[in-house]
Amino acid sequence: MLLSHLLTRAGIENIVIERQSKAHVLDRIRAGVLEWGTVETLRDAGLGDRMDAEGKVHETINIAWRGRELLSIDTADVVGKLMMAYGQTRIQEDLFDAAEALGTTVFFDAQDVVLGDLTSDAPNVTFDIDGESCRIDADFVAGCDGFHGVSRVAIPEQLRTEYEKVYPFGWVGIMSETPPLPILLYANHERGFALCSMRNPMLSRYYVQCPIDDQVEDWNDDRFWSELIARLPPVQAAQLVTGPSIEKSIAPLRSFVSEPMSYGRLFLAGDAAHIVPPTGAKGLNLAVSDVRYLSQAIVAHYAGDPSGLSDYSAKALRRVWGAVRFSWWLTSLLHRFPHQSAFDQRAQEQELFYLSSSRAAQTALAEQYVGLPFES
Ligand code: DHB
Repeated sequence: MLLSHLLTRAGIENIVIERQSKAHVLDRIRAGVLEWGTVETLRDAGLGDRMDAEGKVHETINIAWRGRELLSIDTADVVGKLMMAYGQTRIQEDLFDAAEALGTTVFFDAQDVVLGDLTSDAPNVTFDIDGESCRIDADFVAGCDGFHGVSRVAIPEQLRTEYEKVYPFGWVGIMSETPPLPILLYANHERGFALCSMRNPMLSRYYVQCPIDDQVEDWNDDRFWSELIARLPPVQAAQLVTGPSIEKSIAPLRSFVSEPMSYGRLFLAGDAAHIVPPTGAKGLNLAVSDVRYLSQAIVAHYAGDPSGLSDYSAKALRRVWGAVRFSWWLTSLLHRFPHQSAFDQRAQEQELFYLSSSRAAQTALAEQYVGLPFES
């Protein structure tokens, strides 16, 4: 939807084909922390009004470790940038509203989507809506259809290289209509990782690390809250306001990259090409940076410069790998790994100690957390 919006604003006609219903898309709880480059991209695209009114600016990243200690990194101080808490579901609403205002065609509930003639100058997409078959002929196909979509696998297998890392744990996440902690807080605790985040002043988002095979049914609200509280330092544990969860889910953690991100006239963006573990909230932000690069390359193509499209995959992947490496590192730093050797455990503690005592180390974390700069 963001790519569509950027293209429409540049006068480039486009059609969005969505497998799900609009209600389904708007019902999903997704990411919630925006890098500053994402904030600016949305503002520049005319999508900043509600985000600026309702979003909460984060000035610090906080890491609790050794049970009590709180390491607070002031990102404005060390790298001159901030982050914004504003839910992906809200952004999605803003994008649907903008699409309606601009008259963009969005097909919902599209089934049996097939991409055709991708290596020709005239690719097409066919699909069914309510049993009726439709076909769209276009200059380009943007594969923004997530990990389970049809786009990545439309690239012949022998042309794809996949990189994957699966982590030996998951996150139980809940949403509750309770006031969040005033800070964004990550905890490395001997019982496992925990995270306190937010969506708005009366909507909190919390996560705790859980064994890889756990099911949602294993985690009633009481168990979740007591486990979360046990992993927080005493001050935050005392501040935490509990309440009934309004959503609860378990997500496995993994890193995945498929290269290249283009094939003929097909260009992949977001989860269609890469997955990051949620630690560091990079998934949504990477999707935004992909479509920012892709929209610029498509606009340049129609202005007579084809180089942006031929460079798109390599350029996008440089930024993707930056975030893939960072979220792998932050995941490794903050979780308790089952069967961790005593050596590895001490090395992790030393890294937290170094981070808490070195401005250089805090600067490196903050620079990547707020988002590496876009290439021009
Ligand atoms: C969320 C926030 C984070 O900072 C993070 O690393 C992962 C998820 C969230 O609010 O959903």
